[in-house]
Amino acid sequence: MAAKLFTPFTIKGVTLKNRIVMSPMCMYSSNDEDGRVQNWHRTHYVSRAVGQVGLIIVEATAVTPQGRISPRDLGIWGDEHVGGLQELVSLMKEHGAKTGIQLAHAGRKAVLEGEILAPSAIAFNDASKTPKEMTKTDIDETIEAFKKGAERAAKAGFDIIELHGAHGYLLNEFLSPLSNEREDGYGGSTEKRYRFLREVIDAVKTVWTGPLFVRVSAHDYQQGGLTPEDYIMFAQWMKEQGVDLIDVSSGAVVPAHINVYPGYQVPYSETIRTGANLSTGAVGLITSAIQAEEIVQNNRADLVFLARELLRDPYWPRTAAKELKVSIDTPKQYERGWL
Ligand SMILES: Cc1cc2nc3c(=O)[nH]c(=O)nc-3n(C[C@H](O)[C@H](O)[C@H](O)COP(=O)(O)O)c2cc1C
Repeated sequence: MAAKLFTPFTIKGVTLKNRIVMSPMCMYSSNDEDGRVQNWHRTHYVSRAVGQVGLIIVEATAVTPQGRISPRDLGIWGDEHVGGLQELVSLMKEHGAKTGIQLAHAGRKAVLEGEILAPSAIAFNDASKTPKEMTKTDIDETIEAFKKGAERAAKAGFDIIELHGAHGYLLNEFLSPLSNEREDGYGGSTEKRYRFLREVIDAVKTVWTGPLFVRVSAHDYQQGGLTPEDYIMFAQWMKEQGVDLIDVSSGAVVPAHINVYPGYQVPYSETIRTGANLSTGAVGLITSAIQAEEIVQNNRADLVFLARELLRDPYWPRTAAKELKVSIDTPKQYERGWL
């Protein structure tokens, strides 16, 4: 039987040639601090496309300058960003990869000069800045920024948009009661903590008809925080709103200890996939082909996201195909050395 890892996956009319996804990874390489694509991005992302990764999700890309986690993040807050991203997309597509972009606002995780924003004025830890509690105007402007970001992502030609709702970024901060102590319509009950994400998704969907993924942190690893079971409800709501896949990560909304081991987040993907009957991606210390194949064969996730292993081996799909004894397409220029 053929390896499922190398079977295509179609989501809202977009077909990935395999189940291997390059997980979004900040490169901190917009060297002029203007959010623009640089040569590093061209080399880095296109190498993984040559390596036959099915879907490449470009790193957390800020929808406002204030929403960057660092001054060197990629940005999509202005029309001037579209050209560089468009070129990057077309370079990746030349090698048969599908392309995604992670739209992000770092909220209180931002390490920047000036004011930073969050649902509540609570610092992440002792070393970080106390954010400003967002006003209704700040909320409305940020929703609009996500919408504009999605519009620009569509112009740049991306196949898929992923919203960064994990790792203590702004959307995650609204969801978790550990970081959201608001007493207005955006805090308190589960529904109210979900409202900001709901409004961002609704706004994005007015300008984006392609597949929409949301990355979540399915476990806060702290008393009083969220667990994978809480995320079943959020995932059901996202499904009703037309989200196509939940990319299941965990942690980092508060500085809690995480017991990390191979595949440690895969059970959360399984819980959400089964509980909400929605496609998921699994991520976190997935490094071998056998491990990835087990995840998709046992329907614990539809897609397997790899981050650090793809930094070590940009041609990991080739490595995995060899391990699973399947043959995959070879860039024609590499035929003599690839097999
Ligand atoms: C250099 C680096 C940058 C990262 N940047 C992002 C990011 O921009 N967005 C995000 O959601 N996760 C980010 N992550 C987390 C990864 O996407 C992934 O979830 C995590 O590394 C676990 O997967 P792995 O064990 O395969 O590395 C980053 C990880 C690394 C190593």
